[in-house]
Amino acid sequence: MKIALNGASGFTGRLAVAELARRGIDAVLVGRDPARLRAAASGTGFEIRVADIHDQDALEAAFAGADAVVNTAGPFARLGAPVIRAAVAAGAHYVDTTGEQHYINEVFDAFAGAAVSIVPAMADDGGPSDLIGHLVAEAAGPVETMTVALWYRDGAFSRGTLRSLDPDLLFDGALRYEQDGWTTYGEPSHDTWRFPGAAEPVQVSKAALPPVATVPRHVPVGRMEGLLGGTFDDLKGGIPAAVIDSLPEGPDDEVRRRSKWTISVEAAGRGGRTVRGEVEGTNGYAKTAVIAVEAARRLVADGAKPGVLAPSQAFDPESFLGFLSGHGVRWHVTES
Ligand SMILES: NC(=O)c1ccc[n+]([C@@H]2O[C@H](COP(=O)([O-])OP(=O)(O)OC[C@H]3O[C@@H](n4cnc5c(N)ncnc54)[C@H](OP(=O)(O)O)[C@@H]3O)[C@@H](O)[C@H]2O)c1
Repeated sequence: MKIALNGASGFTGRLAVAELARRGIDAVLVGRDPARLRAAASGTGFEIRVADIHDQDALEAAFAGADAVVNTAGPFARLGAPVIRAAVAAGAHYVDTTGEQHYINEVFDAFAGAAVSIVPAMADDGGPSDLIGHLVAEAAGPVETMTVALWYRDGAFSRGTLRSLDPDLLFDGALRYEQDGWTTYGEPSHDTWRFPGAAEPVQVSKAALPPVATVPRHVPVGRMEGLLGGTFDDLKGGIPAAVIDSLPEGPDDEVRRRSKWTISVEAAGRGGRTVRGEVEGTNGYAKTAVIAVEAARRLVADGAKPGVLAPSQAFDPESFLGFLSGHGVRWHVTES
């Protein structure tokens, strides 16, 4: 099995390099800057191939012979589609780490007929939230409303994440799913959310979360929306590019290790049942690398349908979440 990692020289990309090496999976590291690629490959023995995302021929050549492409080069709204086109042309399955809800919907529309399997959003938010959303819906029966709330704390975002957060799309422009389609909307259903382990209800904002774009593709849901826990006055105003450029590339090891993320999904079933599912973990950037690499490995080893797939359409939810349990991720589904 050979996996091409595009964006290998970036912050998340280098964590994925380490994960591929740890797993003993053969990899080709792809990026635009030879010196940064060489540094990323150091000590691994992985081959490097230089290709700018805007050079389609070079990108296709870089993916030649790969069974799957893991793409960590964002912002995906700007950089994602050419990488998928090149993966499809090279006959390689595709996984990415996007958290951009609108881009995910665009991928489903643009690449529906692809001959390979394409699974966007296999990061610490999009992957586990879709998988637990599927299990919650299974327990609830046909779902009237589903709400997914995400809470990050005690950590920091990478420069690449901050560059990928378009505040207009992430907050006011968030899409919810309603009556067979996705639309913008007014006020969210909640101002606060009870997360496990929180002494008090946490203030939440409506937010463009990935599972709102993916869960309704595999379970019947009347309405679904996303909430982000915490206060985001700095993000909502937009962070100037010069400020982002002056920040460290990403949180250091210590900050990453103490950082926590919680996903909480609640479904109200048409039969009157309310079911909650929760997933909790630490070190979201390292878990993203674990999730994306395992997703690509499973696509190659186990196979999946061709076309664009939500995580739960590509992978068995219990099996994948069970795999994450081995990496310290806790999850459960409970009926209330
Ligand atoms: N949803 C989640 O939970 C989650 C978690 C982790 C990451 N992510 C997403 O993953 C993405 C990467 O984050 P990051 O922190 O790793 O960002 P980063 O450090 O800025 O890395 C971006 C990568 O893209 C490459 N790149 C940019 N423009 C390119 C071009 N024209 N041609 C070829 N390569 C190009 C960069 O190459 P150079 O090294 O040459 O600059 C770098 O390798 C972001 O969109 C982030 O939001 C999401």
